[in-house]
Amino acid sequence: MLRIGLLTSGGDCQALNATMRGIVKTLFNKSKESLEIYGFEDGYQGLIYGRYRKMTPHDFSGILTRGGTILGTSRTPFKLLDTPEADGVEKVPAMIKTYKQLHLDCLFMLGGNGSTKTANRLSQEGLNVIALPKTIDNDTWGTEMTFGFTSAVEIATKCIDDIHTTASSHGRVFVIEIMGHKVGWIPLYAGVAGGADVILIPEIPYSMDNVIATIDKRMQTGSRFTILAVAEGAISKEDAALSKKEYKKKVAARTSPSIVYDIAKEIEARTGRETRVAIPGHTQRGGIPDAQDRIFATQCGVEAALGCLAGEFGYMIAQVDRKMTRVPLADVAGKLKYVDPKSDLVREAKALGISFGDE
Ligand code: F6P
Repeated sequence: MLRIGLLTSGGDCQALNATMRGIVKTLFNKSKESLEIYGFEDGYQGLIYGRYRKMTPHDFSGILTRGGTILGTSRTPFKLLDTPEADGVEKVPAMIKTYKQLHLDCLFMLGGNGSTKTANRLSQEGLNVIALPKTIDNDTWGTEMTFGFTSAVEIATKCIDDIHTTASSHGRVFVIEIMGHKVGWIPLYAGVAGGADVILIPEIPYSMDNVIATIDKRMQTGSRFTILAVAEGAISKEDAALSKKEYKKKVAARTSPSIVYDIAKEIEARTGRETRVAIPGHTQRGGIPDAQDRIFATQCGVEAALGCLAGEFGYMIAQVDRKMTRVPLADVAGKLKYVDPKSDLVREAKALGISFGDE
């Protein structure tokens, strides 16, 4: 008997179900032993409180195209891991207890950075854990790709496409907020794919003077509109020079719900151009996975299942040099993968005339 546990942790994305389907289908096909499957509800919460469903391979049929997660998910901050819950439950011992009570042979954890930290902790405690790189943000260290990313890029790109027609009709400036608090992979890719004129990402601090100059130049050379793809976590040069503490204080004191409103206000005041904000928000995490995500998610699921069957644990499935591989959990845990401001895509986007507001 092969007993496995599955959990999906952190913000959801479009290809979580496709990944779990890949794991279960492969185990069902390849395992010589019969399969016992436990699906933990709402991420690590299910493991902590023993909330799980006994599932069959059939439960994972027909979910390749279904967005979200059939198990439910939650964010369980790593920093609170050693703190008992209000009800006194100690999280790590509780998770180990559930794992052991069910006699699991392997726990498959589909999650991003924070979740991988917890997976590493459990692995260090002696549990057999395999992590799979989930997040629309594509910010997981150790892998070129995460599942969810390409679907989110599609949605953000479609938003930029749609805004183009109304922006050009009215001759307006549009500031579009795109997901990414700490990293700018989605705004970068969607900005290039959607033909944005300005892309602002956390990795490249901007100056409003440069942004205004770009808009003015476009207007002077006959463009009726300007579109900015702005990461949630876009940061000005001034703010980037602040200490972490000072910056946090400044963000907390902000009266607008997002930096995009402040940027839009300043653009309108300084250029005299009507400026609007558009926020696709959580639609970027919703709906069905695109074809590329379905393929990558399936690959991740298959590789994780094969690893489990080989009795190998303690790593995250990854893509490096476009090949499927594994990286030790300890190497990945807690590290973010940032956009390199000197990367080819940034260099090419700049050559194309896209401004990142830094020069
Ligand atoms: O981690 C994915 C992500 O979608 C980020 O891009 C975004 O900043 C954040 O989650 C939103 O989190 P929540 O769904 O908890 O509001």
